[in-house]
Amino acid sequence: MKKLRVALIYNAYTDSKPDEKADTGSLHYLRQMIRGIARGLRRLRHEVVVMPLAGDLSVLQRKLNRLGPDIVFNQYDDVVHGALYEMRVAAFIRMLGYPMTGSPALGLGLSRYKYMSLSLLKGAGLPIPPSTTLIERLSDIDELKWSFPLIVHAAQEHAGIGLDRGSVVQTKKALKEKSREILRTYKQPALVQHFLKGREFNVGLIGGRTVRVLPLAEVDYSRLPRAIPPIMSYAAKWVETSVEYRRTEIICPARVDATLTALIGKTAVKAFRAVGGWGYGRVDVRLDESGQPIILEVNCNPCLDSGMGLARSAEQAGIEYPQLLQAIIKAAFEGPPYDMHLPIFNLGNSGRVRGR
Ligand SMILES: Nc1ncnc2c1ncn2[C@@H]1O[C@H](COP(=O)(O)OP(=O)(O)O)[C@@H](O)[C@H]1O
Ligand SMILES: [Mg+2]
Repeated sequence: MKKLRVALIYNAYTDSKPDEKADTGSLHYLRQMIRGIARGLRRLRHEVVVMPLAGDLSVLQRKLNRLGPDIVFNQYDDVVHGALYEMRVAAFIRMLGYPMTGSPALGLGLSRYKYMSLSLLKGAGLPIPPSTTLIERLSDIDELKWSFPLIVHAAQEHAGIGLDRGSVVQTKKALKEKSREILRTYKQPALVQHFLKGREFNVGLIGGRTVRVLPLAEVDYSRLPRAIPPIMSYAAKWVETSVEYRRTEIICPARVDATLTALIGKTAVKAFRAVGGWGYGRVDVRLDESGQPIILEVNCNPCLDSGMGLARSAEQAGIEYPQLLQAIIKAAFEGPPYDMHLPIFNLGNSGRVRGR
């Protein structure tokens, strides 16, 4: 395997909120994950330079041009500036001419604009939750007919942000209250959907031209008190001290029969491709009342923490952490289709870029 010079970039910008130790979504844990990725890449004998990005893109540009990496390992995940920044940073890196791991800007944007990506999936004939509706004004709610239960999301968030015990609603009054909270607190539309009570799966995907479906993981809510809705809320994902976190388990590999496994895998790959995903992804799926898999969302560039999520599914397939990272790099060099490097923009890196 060729030794590469890898620039590992991540978002080190915070809005000065102090880190909560019990909150595994904090910068403290992000840094831990980045160190783990760097270690994994070094075990593959690659030269790794970690580049925290804390606001100034021109600094990143200078650093990259000085280093002249063979590839940028993109771990930029933005929880501060809003949904557009992940795609903007990815586009910036590609415009500088560097090959980059994971999904291109468009896929990253669609991962965050859930209503757009779900509309696209529906248009492609893929199953999405019934009654998926975007609420931009509270008065929209009165104009429509609703059947409950419904779940109310923040339309452009990820990582469980905005999802709590009040997110599953049974009445129009509660629907309005939760939508109002989202419009005001998160300053974005609310996404309302029929609440699917069936089994929930995370489908890990790796690869470029050929996508491999990893062993399914199931989210097991059976130990959760009945008063708490069975969803991967913010608390269930990140807050180690919460009941939600302690009573929600991930079973990997999931116990699912071969026919359903194949159907879930096929649906997930189609969804990943439809939104322009590349390299690695995780599709969240839930079964409806008749047992059919419905796509909740496609995560392009999902969390790469070792021992969790995608990495855990990869381990179940016999793929160790460094090999997972290597597969992601390999996919990046295969390159998303139509994403050729045309040096249209002269951003001051003449002759130094080793792009494709
Ligand atoms: N329509 C739905 N029906 C049932 N549960 C849902 C639905 N949409 C989301 N959920 C629950 O909420 C969780 C988070 O929603 P998701 O769309 O995956 O957003 P996030 O980006 O926050 O992970 C899911 O893992 C699932 O438990
Ligand atoms: Mg999700």
